[in-house]
Amino acid sequence: MRDIPGFRPKVAVILGSGLGGFADEVEPVATLSYSELPGFPPTTVGSHAGRLVLGHVGRTPVAVLQGRAHYYERGRADEMKPVIRAIAELGCETLLQTNAAGSLRLDMPPGAVMAVTDHINFTGVNPLFGETGNGRFVDMVDAYDPALRAALVAAGEDVFEGTYIWFSGPSFETPAEIRAARVLGADAVGMSTVPETILARHAGLRVAALSLMTNYAAGLTPDKLGHAQTLAVAQEAAGKVRRQLRRFLEGYA
Ligand code: HPA
Repeated sequence: MRDIPGFRPKVAVILGSGLGGFADEVEPVATLSYSELPGFPPTTVGSHAGRLVLGHVGRTPVAVLQGRAHYYERGRADEMKPVIRAIAELGCETLLQTNAAGSLRLDMPPGAVMAVTDHINFTGVNPLFGETGNGRFVDMVDAYDPALRAALVAAGEDVFEGTYIWFSGPSFETPAEIRAARVLGADAVGMSTVPETILARHAGLRVAALSLMTNYAAGLTPDKLGHAQTLAVAQEAAGKVRRQLRRFLEGYA
């Protein structure tokens, strides 16, 4: 990927469903479309713009990714590999992820945010399939950096902390799957983030992740699930998430 002379981002931010508006918080240096970046995936989810915005939040140089590709789009877990490699090559040391998720906890209602402490990969696939060398045996202890997590919690209001479980999607989970996920120790469920975390740790990046609850997971309440609700709740809570991300990035040393 071409360099922007004199600009070296420290933090890459992936904006999840309904949260793309955070890119407006960036004082831009350059905006690039994924389509002009080699290897970057097309994004097929309408709410994901497919743009990379390079610039500053406060004094922190950032690379903001408006949109991600998901495993469910083409059945490839390594869809985001070129993106994560590119941000590592640009000089980023940290990947901050956001996502929309379903809550498995009745005390964590739609609109709540959760800093991810750990994850469960429930898909059976891994974005590092096919990699060679010992580097592929990535240590996943503290994959979500404890110091960054503390800073993320401090930057928000009433932030929950918990474990994120990755289901493949694109269908939502069944109530039985959600009951199983609760037994396994999950607090939130979603269709993203985990492959990017694995790829980022493989590339030597520190990771932090924030989940915005857009619904109670299947079966917790009589409600029906749908992408429209995900977007509606995400848009409602977007301002709060934006402030939290801004504070986190401004305070990033
Ligand atoms: N399940 C999976 N992904 C999601 C959900 C959910 O309930 N809500 C938002 N993304």
